[in-house]
Amino acid sequence: MTPYYLTTPIYYVNAKPHLGHAYTTIVADAMTRFAALMGREAMFITGTDEHGDKIVKAAEQAGCPVQELTDRVSGEFRALWPELQTRPARFVRTTSEEHKAVVRAFLQKIHDAGDIYFGGYGGYYCYGCERFYTEKELENGVCPQHLTPAEYISEKNYFFRMSAYQERLKKHIRDNPDFIRPARYRAEALALLEGEVLDDLCISRPKARLSWGIELPFDSAYVCYVWFDALLAYVTALGGPESAAFDKFWPHAEHLVAKDILKPHAVFWPTMLMAAGLPLYRHLNVHGYWLSRAAKMSKSIGNVVSPLDTALLYGLDGFRYFLLREMQFGSDADFSEEALIARFNADLANDLGNLFSRVLVMAEKFCAGRVPVPGPDADREREIKALALDSLANFQNFFGQAQFSLALERLWDLVRALNKYVDKAAPWALARTGDGETLGTVLYTLLECMRKTALHLWPVMPDASARMLSQLGCACPTLEGADFSGIRGLLPAEAENFGTLEAGTGLAGTSNLFPRIDVKT
Ligand code: MSP
Repeated sequence: MTPYYLTTPIYYVNAKPHLGHAYTTIVADAMTRFAALMGREAMFITGTDEHGDKIVKAAEQAGCPVQELTDRVSGEFRALWPELQTRPARFVRTTSEEHKAVVRAFLQKIHDAGDIYFGGYGGYYCYGCERFYTEKELENGVCPQHLTPAEYISEKNYFFRMSAYQERLKKHIRDNPDFIRPARYRAEALALLEGEVLDDLCISRPKARLSWGIELPFDSAYVCYVWFDALLAYVTALGGPESAAFDKFWPHAEHLVAKDILKPHAVFWPTMLMAAGLPLYRHLNVHGYWLSRAAKMSKSIGNVVSPLDTALLYGLDGFRYFLLREMQFGSDADFSEEALIARFNADLANDLGNLFSRVLVMAEKFCAGRVPVPGPDADREREIKALALDSLANFQNFFGQAQFSLALERLWDLVRALNKYVDKAAPWALARTGDGETLGTVLYTLLECMRKTALHLWPVMPDASARMLSQLGCACPTLEGADFSGIRGLLPAEAENFGTLEAGTGLAGTSNLFPRIDVKT
């Protein structure tokens, strides 16, 4: 099985983590858990992006030394991830010595190869984005992301010959339809490359203006441009380009980002890799924005949602489920507590929670709390089993393509069908008439399908999945460290056959997985 290596963006330390950062990291965690369940040696990494003007400005505003600010905010990000049950294999800081060494070696390599030159430069710069804009990209001189005027800066700098790789990159994106996905972002990236000749990338900042960065190995009067430094964190996380982990994982690398940082990932990064003679990543997975009160969450607008407060209020599993179910991967979605509560009550409390509670209560009552021996299948079992295998195969397929809401919709086809099957098969009536064999078949079929459902939900709701499996008397996937080896490869067979659950296994007598959230009016 091919290894799996996924990255989140390396988050800026100028502001506290918010829902947007939590979403990306939770998705990365879910994708990694899923890849492991599908049989791959899987890991994801995250970290913090700590250099550049933006961070210096934030420290000035906070009235504290920049090192202190980066240590504090980086620590807040690091501490948040386990609270959200996300398990990054590594947390990279761009101010670490290890990372600095990787960046300097990379710069030296492409400098030696002739892809870096020194030249004069004047351009419009947005401090929020940490990048120069062309006049065309600005809207009346204003940055379209930050809605602040870009500043004209003129100075001598080092440039990366990005334009030399434009044709090769265009061809690569055309030849590999899923290099950037969903398709709309692939089209956006192609549009960036199909217009005019790409500008070369300004990759230095004079120390006289900014000293908070990695010094260029070939000119101590300059530091490295923050994006050129940050993207390399993906390589540092594997121990640098010479490491065994890099050889093993890098050819299978995938990135996960929101659309705000499409250009650096779709254009800067692959051309940098080409210049260094390194393989390109396999997929760039791009998602939309979580909006709050119809605007992108931002500190300046004041509509930021705290991920931890929300998770504590409604429960982490429901929060993770909502994020993956509600957003169509690639499009924007609105975050509101009303939507979270509605989704929680409909899908988790009603559909899934009720299924567990009614079936386990019946198994307790009619089968002494043990998995019964199934009799032969009738048509209705053949029907529900076919539906189960179909839903699970669809779930696996969509999840593998980062289409989480579609995957969960397909899984809920099964959950709802199981509830209907309970109504139709009416186990209470079978118990009353003493038809023990049919009763055994019906309850066994239900419990086995519930076990499959619980296992498929592990990437999305790890704690609830473990509780469901334990209520079914099954071993929970355990995690030793972050390598997911305990659960590797469990899923594919689940969409092919039945019969894992052993008759006689002890079950929980009751279940109250997702108590309904009552809204006070
Ligand atoms: N430091 C750069 C990334 C360098 S990667 C080599 C950066 N940092 S950031 O802190 O601004 O994080 C941006 C990322 O946070 C987005 O790409 C996305 O993953 C996540 N999100 C931030 N706000 C978001 C929303 N409102 N909605 C969804 N995701 C958002 O850019």
